[in-house]
Amino acid sequence: MKAIVQDHYGNATSIRFDDIDRPPVPDDKVLVQVVAAGVDRGALHFMTGQPYLMRLGTGLRTPRVRVPGVSYAGRIEAVGANVTGFAVGDEVYGAARGTYAEYVLASPDKMAHKPTQLTSDQAAVLPYAAFAGLQAVADHAKVQPGERVLVIGGTGAVGSVVVQAAKAAGAEVTAVTGPHNQDAATDLGADHTIDYTQADFTDGTHTYDVIIDVFGRTPTRKLRRALTPSGRLIIAGGEGDRWIGGIQRQLGAVLLNPFIGQSLRMFLAKENTATLEHMNGLIAAGKVQPPHTHTYPLVDAANAVHDLEAAATPGRLVLTV
Ligand SMILES: NC(=O)c1ccc[n+]([C@@H]2O[C@H](COP(=O)([O-])OP(=O)(O)OC[C@H]3O[C@@H](n4cnc5c(N)ncnc54)[C@H](OP(=O)(O)O)[C@@H]3O)[C@@H](O)[C@H]2O)c1
Repeated sequence: MKAIVQDHYGNATSIRFDDIDRPPVPDDKVLVQVVAAGVDRGALHFMTGQPYLMRLGTGLRTPRVRVPGVSYAGRIEAVGANVTGFAVGDEVYGAARGTYAEYVLASPDKMAHKPTQLTSDQAAVLPYAAFAGLQAVADHAKVQPGERVLVIGGTGAVGSVVVQAAKAAGAEVTAVTGPHNQDAATDLGADHTIDYTQADFTDGTHTYDVIIDVFGRTPTRKLRRALTPSGRLIIAGGEGDRWIGGIQRQLGAVLLNPFIGQSLRMFLAKENTATLEHMNGLIAAGKVQPPHTHTYPLVDAANAVHDLEAAATPGRLVLTV
């Protein structure tokens, strides 16, 4: 089968279009014929092996899975003997390793049936954003109706899900974005927007019951100034240096947490069917909009990865297979 392959960690220059064997189907997996695969920061972390800390799980010197890509939408081609709930021909989407290929092995507990309202391109970019975005709002912040919620990075892949899910939960949402994305934040349903180039959202002028930090770089002491005395900070984003990727800021917040009235939390998103089914419900209810996508053919994966790194293309990036 055709696939994007990498023999060593790296960015767009480390991958090539190649032929590899189609994998046999274990009893507990399904084989999905990939129609579209998301190009996102999650896939990029696995591709580059950065922060280096993650190589403890993904392979120390070279990537254990040689095909990049962590999310897909496609059609089930074959079903393992022990799998229930899915059948050959079902249209599904979810998380798996090695989605930049014609076929990928997927776990039934990390996939769901694709909502009919979405194209495959739109569905392919959702798992990554749904796992982090919905879990931040529903499982970690537990956003309540009427609460004031600040979303830092409110129009990015994850942030756009956070804004819409917080609105769906009945919150008054303020989205922090750059100057070009103010209207996009309003279109997602944000009640207020802040341009991070024009205003310091941590100056304490406004305080929030919940801050969901998707951007992932603002110091915790500043974020605390924008929280109510009993407010909750949920750190979703964690960009930083090549070694530990900003985890020190998140761990610092967790260590401080027991000693203050505010609640400071970080989390690693879980890949699971329950979150995708939650997303399916929000899509069906019209509470999450289908994302705007920009597609590239599989053979152009390097260009897509380059554009993601350069933030050169608006919308969510997708490889069509
Ligand atoms: N916890 C987890 O398990 C988990 C899971 C998935 C992702 N993540 C992390 O979530 C983060 C975001 O990922 P993503 O894919 O959503 O990224 P993305 O699509 O690139 O979005 C980044 C967002 O940050 C905003 N931003 C840029 N500079 C900013 C600044 N100075 N102040 C405030 N906001 C700023 C951007 O706004 P403009 O575009 O308008 O500039 C954009 O909305 C990454 O760190 C990723 O690793 C964590």
